[in-house]
Parts: sequence; structure tokens; C-alpha cells
Amino acid sequence: MIAGEREPLLAGKKIVLGVTGGIAAYKAADLASRLKKEGAELRVVMTEAAAEFVQPLTFRVISGNPVHSRQFEEPRVWSVEHVALAEQADLIVVAPATAQIIACMALGLAPDLLSTVLLAARSPILAAPAMNTAMYFHPATQEHLSILRARGVVLIGPDEGGLACGATGTGRMSEPAVIAAAARRLLALSGRLAGRRALVTAGGTRERIDPVRYIGNFSSGKMGYAVAAALAAAGAAVTLISAPAALPPPAGVQFVQTESALAMREAVRERFAASDIVVMAAAVADYRPETAAAEKIKKSGGELVLTLTENPDILAELGRRKQGKIIVGFAAETEEARARGAEKLKRKNADFLVVNDVALPGAGFGVDTNIVSFLYPDGTARDLPLMSKKEIAGLITEEIVRLLPNDNKSAKENENE
Ligand code: C5P
Repeated sequence: MIAGEREPLLAGKKIVLGVTGGIAAYKAADLASRLKKEGAELRVVMTEAAAEFVQPLTFRVISGNPVHSRQFEEPRVWSVEHVALAEQADLIVVAPATAQIIACMALGLAPDLLSTVLLAARSPILAAPAMNTAMYFHPATQEHLSILRARGVVLIGPDEGGLACGATGTGRMSEPAVIAAAARRLLALSGRLAGRRALVTAGGTRERIDPVRYIGNFSSGKMGYAVAAALAAAGAAVTLISAPAALPPPAGVQFVQTESALAMREAVRERFAASDIVVMAAAVADYRPETAAAEKIKKSGGELVLTLTENPDILAELGRRKQGKIIVGFAAETEEARARGAEKLKRKNADFLVVNDVALPGAGFGVDTNIVSFLYPDGTARDLPLMSKKEIAGLITEEIVRLLPNDNKSAKENENE
């Protein structure tokens, strides 16, 4: 390598690129070229329909390898070939992913080489759905996508824009540069947190007023669940301690359901000593009713006064017993996010704080996107543009990998010494 030249980020990584039959198949050629330029050893598998859109020769030239598609092979070779491709892959990227291949993946169907490779896969899988808007929003496709998400398949897009059918809507394949970046991130992080234990909190706590009412907040849990999934994908053993959230627990994560701030505090305390990484993404209520009524409170015709008592600050308590752990906090603000965040970072003794102004459009509670800054104890900050919560979770994971001491000793090992 010439001095000053950086090593390609995917050097030596074996990537299988599955191309299915949509108009976006032509963009997969650009994606293949980007993956190849980053040093990946690329094998392309095309479905029969994909080969109608783009000549397999295109991918053969770009990848430097024969293209696997039905046109070139006898079906009986599949059984051997799919195992070899699936076993060797560090990552499988399906782009574009049609409704058809998404259905096959969700249901475990294997009618052709690509679906067979996917069924035999052991590596992470990244899929970039692309289809007509109606097909995308059809309940069947949506259910299949949630099955895949729950199994840990990373889905990128689809984006909104002009579609091949002439309409404008959701269904365009994400840009090849975005898919390539996601592939890089997945491979760069894979296994980097092996042997580490992570605790993640998520959701909004509920503080009971009586058996049927509570004080809550608008947190959906999306950010914390995405962080738990990203840490697990990087190899950490993750425990997700969740306040109520209408989301399926991510695959491969140990799940603990809690409700109130006090219950969450107990669950966190039990596991803190054995953890190397703690990410407090939960929106913990600062106050709870002093007493929860045993019976449903009846209307009295007059005023009802609730007395609230302050909840313990779980993060600040952990910060006091930090030792060598990496602690990440969140701060949702509605004004002066930066200044308030800096004060919290200090008070809670975190390694960095993810701050967002929940009043901005596209940021905060409920939505799939967020606009955040990372604040560090030395006063520096990293401002990120609007991105999906999953992408932010990937960046938080990268940051944790960067900050972890390199002694390769987990908290569990230190505890046993
Ligand atoms: O002070 P504030 O609630 O804005 O701090 C937010 C951060 O502190 C989040 O990481 C949240 O999970 C954590 N927190 C906590 N216990 C509380 C309140 C907040 O751990 N009682």
C-alpha cells in the first residue's frame, strides 16, 4: 500500500450480493462496484427475474467472479453451492429485495438459489427492499418485514421518491452509497464486542396513580431497542431492561420487562456489577405519586390533588459506581439542549451523552428518525444530521467500541478475580 493511502474498509471480507428482479437491479451494479472498491471479495447471486433486468455479465465483470444465477447452472448443483456460499459469507446483502424474496426469507421458502443461500446463512443479512408502494404497504409484506426485523435482519429503506410505475411514494431502493455504508458498519463492528456484557434501558416508565391510571411519557422505546440490537449485532451479550413499549424485543437479547422507575432501578442494580457497558436510553419519570391508591380513585366533584415524590436518578447513581465501565446517557430537551446536556453529563458522570431537542421535527419521541449530538466530558461535541434511530444506534455502538479499554477483560472476569 502506498504511504498515506488508507486500507480498504472491506479488505478480505466475503460478501454475497443477492440481486432480485426489480428495476432497481441496475443500481445494484453501482453497489457491487462500491463494495468491490472497498476491497470485498464479492460473489453475486441473481434471481432469474433479476437477470431479465441486468445482464449477469455486468456483475461478472464488476465482481471478477462468475455470477451465480439459474441461467448458468443446473438446479441440482444448488444443494452444494448454496452451502458453500452461505458458509463462507461474512455478510449477505440483498439489494434490491423484492416483496417475493422478502416473503421467502420470512417464511423459510427456498425455491431458487438465492433463497436457498439465505435459508442456509449464518452471517448477518442486510436487505434493501424496493417495490411499488402498494406492495410495500400490503399487510403481508409488512408482516414479513417485521418477522425479518425481529430475527435481526438489517433493513435499509425503502426511500420515498419516483417509482418505476410512474407514481411517487415509498418503495425506492435506498441509494447504493447508503447501503454500502451500512454494510461497512455491520462488518466493521461484527464481533468487536464479543465477550462484553451490555445493559440497555428503554421505553417510558409508568408511575401508578391507582390500579387503572398512571403518569407516563411519550417515549416509544425505539431508540433504546435499536441500541440493544446494534450492541448485540456487534457481539455483546445484551440485557434490555424495558419499561412498557409497543415493540418486539430484538433477536438475541435477554429481555426484562419493568414498569416503574423504582422497578427499573432494581433490575439495573442487580446486573450493573457484571456489565461492561450501560446505555440508559429509557425516559425515566422524575416524579411518582407519593402513594398509589389501592382502589380506583372515584370522581368526587371537586379538585383532586396528587402529591408527587422525586424518583432516584438511576444514571447518576450508576455514575458514582462507574469503575471501568462505559456509561452512556441520553437527554431529551425542549430548549438549550446543548447547555443542559453538558450539565447532565457532568452530574451523571457518563462517558458521553446523546442529546436531542425533542421539539425539532423528525426528532424525539415516537418517530423513526432523530437529530442528536454526542457530548463528551472534555466539552467537545459531535453533531449528527437527521438519521434513522438504527443508524444512530450503529454510531453509538462504534463510539462504545472506540472508548472501551483494550484489555479484553470483561467485567465478569474482573469480578471473578
Ligand atoms: O435528567 P434527565 O431525565 O434529562 O436525564 C436523562 C438521562 O438520565 C437518561 O439517560 C435517563 O435514562 C437517565 N435517568 C435516570 N433516572 C432518572 C431520570 C433520568 O437514569 N430518574
